[in-house]
Amino acid sequence: MPETQDSQDRAPPNHPSPIPDRGALPRHVAVIMDGNGRWAARRRRPRMIGHRAGARAVNLCIDFCLDRGIGALTLFAFSSENWGRPEEEVGALMKLFLNALEREVEELDRRGVRIRFIGERERFAGPIRERMDAAEASTRGNGRLHLAIAASYGGRQDVAAAARALATEVAAGRLRPEDIDERAVGARMALSDLPDPDLFIRTGGDLRISNFLLWQLAYTELWFTDILWPELDTATLERALADFAARERRFGLTGEQAGGFSNLPSDRAPE
Ligand code: FPP
Repeated sequence: MPETQDSQDRAPPNHPSPIPDRGALPRHVAVIMDGNGRWAARRRRPRMIGHRAGARAVNLCIDFCLDRGIGALTLFAFSSENWGRPEEEVGALMKLFLNALEREVEELDRRGVRIRFIGERERFAGPIRERMDAAEASTRGNGRLHLAIAASYGGRQDVAAAARALATEVAAGRLRPEDIDERAVGARMALSDLPDPDLFIRTGGDLRISNFLLWQLAYTELWFTDILWPELDTATLERALADFAARERRFGLTGEQAGGFSNLPSDRAPE
């Protein structure tokens, strides 16, 4: 049985995947939005100007997913490691996040977007945490687009949190060690109710995953572009979708076996 069957099983029973299959279109796209600082530097402007321009690109990306019927979008907004940036940049980014939450949530709600945040929420200041909670609560009933914002998120931290949850359950006698399998781990990771990302996009030219969704990206198609995040346009996203549609996804099987099901979303690989 290919490992991908695990992600099919990851959604808890009675919680079928909330996102319909749309053929060669990815159901779930995960994005590393990189290049804001370089975009600003090229214009001899402070880095923060790049982040502000990056916020506009976030809107473009969300609009694109809504237009194209992509069911889930996960954006890497702030990594666990980004706290180590200069205090001034971190402070300005926090202000930008707070403003975006104040400005955008109502409109996103109106358009059927369900918002959630993944990452170490407790590290944010009270007012931001409250806005995050409120955004999640007010959009909980929506299902047109599942938008996950990874904020103070790290893939290794996500795995460690799942391991801690499992250890706690074992210690409490609710789980036997021999019952810990991929499904049990996956069910305790962030985004466990969504299909794994089918397509990963990174702007800014670097070819790495940078501690993003390490577990969830196991069979994701990776797509990189030199375009800096604030320069993002619809044509670039169309290119990513076209390249994705042309890929053959094999899920660990042979090309011959895979021939009949290339491009199935990653939780629908055959047994
Ligand atoms: C990486 O570019 C970007 C970030 C660390 C911040 C991402 C923030 C935004 C796109 C703005 C708003 C987001 C939301 C969700 C409202 P970088 O600073 O590492 O760029 P560089 O590699 O060119 O220095």
